[in-house]
Amino acid sequence: MADSKDTPKQPGTQAVTGGRRKEWTEAVVNPPVWRASTHLYDNVASLREGLKTNEDGRFFYGRRGSPTQWSLAEAITEMEPGAAGTMLYPSGSAAVTGAMLSVLAPGDEVLMTDNAYDPTRSFADNFLKRMGISTRYYDPLIGADIAGLIKENTRAILLESPGSLTFEIQDVPAICAVARDAGIVTLLDNTWATSRFFPALSHGVDISIIAATKYIVGHSDVMIGSATTHGKYWHRLRRTAQQLGQVVSPDDAYLASRGLRTLEVRLKQHEASALKIAHWLKARPEVGLVLHPALPDCPGHELWQRDFSGSSGLFSFQLLDGDEQSRAAFIDALALFGIGYSWGGYESLAIPVDPAKHRSAVPWNEAGALVRLNIGLEDPDDLIADLAKGFEAFHKFQS
Ligand SMILES: Cc1ncc(COP(=O)(O)O)c(C=O)c1O
Repeated sequence: MADSKDTPKQPGTQAVTGGRRKEWTEAVVNPPVWRASTHLYDNVASLREGLKTNEDGRFFYGRRGSPTQWSLAEAITEMEPGAAGTMLYPSGSAAVTGAMLSVLAPGDEVLMTDNAYDPTRSFADNFLKRMGISTRYYDPLIGADIAGLIKENTRAILLESPGSLTFEIQDVPAICAVARDAGIVTLLDNTWATSRFFPALSHGVDISIIAATKYIVGHSDVMIGSATTHGKYWHRLRRTAQQLGQVVSPDDAYLASRGLRTLEVRLKQHEASALKIAHWLKARPEVGLVLHPALPDCPGHELWQRDFSGSSGLFSFQLLDGDEQSRAAFIDALALFGIGYSWGGYESLAIPVDPAKHRSAVPWNEAGALVRLNIGLEDPDDLIADLAKGFEAFHKFQS
C-alpha cells in the first residue's frame, strides 16, 4: 500500500488516514498501545544524541510519548491547515490551562469571553490571579469592537465559540484580526465544532483547543485534551506542556484515535438528529428560545452560517414559564436522556443550566429555565417521543 500522506483528502478520509504512518503501525491498522516509562538506547552515544532534538517521532522518555500518542497528535494536527503541531493533555481543562500558561506571564492581562466554560473562568479568577495575571471578561458578541478593550498589558484573548451553555457564536475572524494587529495571541476553545466544522487556524486563531473527551473520543470513556498551533507558538506550547509534566496515557490516546476514525460519520449523525430535534422543540408551545447555532434564535447565527461547515449535537432550549421544579420534572421524566455533565458521546444527555451564575460582563436576563441537550446517536424519533414525555411531566407539575 502506497503512503497516502501527500494525497489531497476530504475530511472523512483525513480522519481515517491521519497519523497512521507505516513506521508506527507496522503490519496492523491501528498504531498499537506502546506502554512505556523507560525508552532504551543502543549505547551512550545515542542517549546523548537523543538530547539534541525535541519532537514527536523520536523515542526519548515515556513523558514524551510513543507512536500511540504521536499518531493521535499528528492526526489532530492534520485536521487544522496551517498547524505546526499538537500537544495532548490529560483532559480538556488541562489543555485550556496548559495553553494559557504557555503564553501568559505575571503582569499580563487576558480578555476572556463572558460565556467561557466555567472551569476556564475559575482558573483565570483564581490561579492566574494568584500568578499576577488579570482577567477582564467581554461580551461574546463584541466582534471587532474588542479593539476598544485592549490595554498595554493585554497579552491574550480567550474565545469560546459557541459557548457551551448559551451558544453565542463569536466573530472569530474579526477578533483575531484585531489581536494580530495588536500583537496579541488568540486561543479558542473549539470543542463544540472541532476542527472538522471550524478549522480555527484558518480563521485566524493562534491556538485551537479541543476537549477531545467529547466528540473525538465520542464514547464517554476517556478524558483527554489537545492544543494545536502554528509555528509562532508551537515551541512554547510544547515546552510548557513538558515543563508541567503533562502526558496522556497510551491507552487513552489509543481510544481517542479509535474515536477519531469515526468522527465524520458520528458528527454528521449528531448534526442531523440535533437539527431535527431542535426544529421539533422550536414548534412546541412550551418552548421559547432554541439556542442552537444553526437556528436563527441563536445570537451570532449569521456568523455560524458564514464561518462553520456544520453543527454538532449540543444545544440548549428555554422552557417558557419553567422554574427549578418544573424543569426538574421535565428532565427526570426522560428515559433515554441521562443526566450528566460531559457531552459529545454516543448517548443523549439532558441537564439544567443556569448561565446567570457564570456571567460578569453581560448579565443573562432571559426568563424561563434552560435545558441543555446532548443529542446522541439514538434514533431521533425515539428521542422526540421521550422529550414529549418530558413535556407531559412538565405540564402535570404546572397544573
Ligand atoms: C467547552 C468545554 N471546554 C472544555 C471542557 C473541559 O473538558 P474536560 O472535561 O475534558 O476537562 C469542557 C467540558 O465539559 C467543555 O464543555
